[in-house]
Amino acid sequence: MPKVAPDVAFDRVLLTPEYLADPYPFYQELRNKAPVYFSQRLNGWVLTRHSDVTAGLCDKRLISGQRVESFASHLPAAILQGMRPLYDHLGKWIGNMDPPDHTRLRALVNKAFTPRMVQDLGPSIEAIAFRLLDAAAGKGQMEFIRDFAYPLPATVIASMLGLPPGDQDQFIAWADDLTAYSGSGSANIELSQTAQRSVAALTDYFRRIVSERRTRPRNDLISTLVALEEQGDKLSEQELISMCTFLLVAGHETTMALLANGLLALLRNPSQREALQSKPERTRSAVEEFLRYDSPIQHQTRVAGESFELDGSQLERGQRVLLMLGAANRDPAQFADPDRLDIEREPNKHVAFGLGIHYCIGAPLARLEAQIAFPELLSRFPEIRLEDETLEWRRHTSQRNPVRMNLVW
Ligand code: HEM
Repeated sequence: MPKVAPDVAFDRVLLTPEYLADPYPFYQELRNKAPVYFSQRLNGWVLTRHSDVTAGLCDKRLISGQRVESFASHLPAAILQGMRPLYDHLGKWIGNMDPPDHTRLRALVNKAFTPRMVQDLGPSIEAIAFRLLDAAAGKGQMEFIRDFAYPLPATVIASMLGLPPGDQDQFIAWADDLTAYSGSGSANIELSQTAQRSVAALTDYFRRIVSERRTRPRNDLISTLVALEEQGDKLSEQELISMCTFLLVAGHETTMALLANGLLALLRNPSQREALQSKPERTRSAVEEFLRYDSPIQHQTRVAGESFELDGSQLERGQRVLLMLGAANRDPAQFADPDRLDIEREPNKHVAFGLGIHYCIGAPLARLEAQIAFPELLSRFPEIRLEDETLEWRRHTSQRNPVRMNLVW
């Protein structure tokens, strides 16, 4: 059983505007008073120290396979029954799998998602970024999320998978329904039903594309995965389709948040912005610092596969464990002056992309997109600034980004 609950604000403030605007003081309080904390709101153990989070990401006792069910376990049985297709689909996402299935799928997707493939995407990422910035250039203003941070990764992932550009708004909207469901803190019926409908629509959509690629393969990721599927019993069609929907979900809003949070961090720290504008060769370390400073994914969930004790608390088998990446990335035990943005921070052992067997497959792609976007943005619009400092933050427990950012120059 959980220990007596310490008096910390976390559960009271979770998802309030104050928390969403700046969760870091609340993480700090947890780290200081209750680094292993049972959150009633999130129905799980919340770990905030860098050492616990990194150990947790690599701990075989913490598994990913049951987190889909554990998230919705409080819903009535009849509702859960009706949601079976949604849970079956999400259960086939590589991120929700454990070895040996995870190992098999990871080896396959590693074959399809090669460093060479990512490197080759460079010119097309540049072309997409330039086109979006060209469109904004004459206007003297843009809504950064809508006009750049959102469409850049969406277009990149769509072209990587080989999806028709005209379909983009539709399949991205379906994918966003899945992110909205998973970030609601605790599954609710309405978001579950929307996610269920969108997963059905995405499945039909990808089934059609997969069958087209079977007859007429192209030079795209879906064709590569279809070829791997046809080589034998390594990848089922359901796994192939789930891989496509997961890549859409995993690769798109996360990168949008890196671009948005990174730019915001620069705009709020003029000396760092000048440091980057004067020396664009600092972009590589600056992007790492953006990932650390205001991480796009604030937590990853696991389920305890067995009972064990952690720092005096008893974690029971089947309980949820939330590894707070965003808190680990601000832990003073790991990072000197962690609340300061330092675009030349070295070393920078952030965990924004996770660690261990589930380490982000798309990290090189996300980094490349950001490394192309930031210098171009800052050199084209050196005077760029926020029109209004008051921002609305996304109401999500893990995905972190402002809803919109009006910029002027
Ligand atoms: C800034 C952007 C991104 C961030 C912050 C991010 C973050 C993460 C994190 C934290 C994990 C670990 C999940 C866990 O431990 O359970 C992960 C896994 C994953 N990410 Fe990313 N990601 C980003 C971009 C991308 C992109 C662009 C793609 C693909 C196009 C992608 C595909 C994946 C996949 C497939 C996994 C699952 C790997 C596995 O379970 O073996 N991500 N990502």
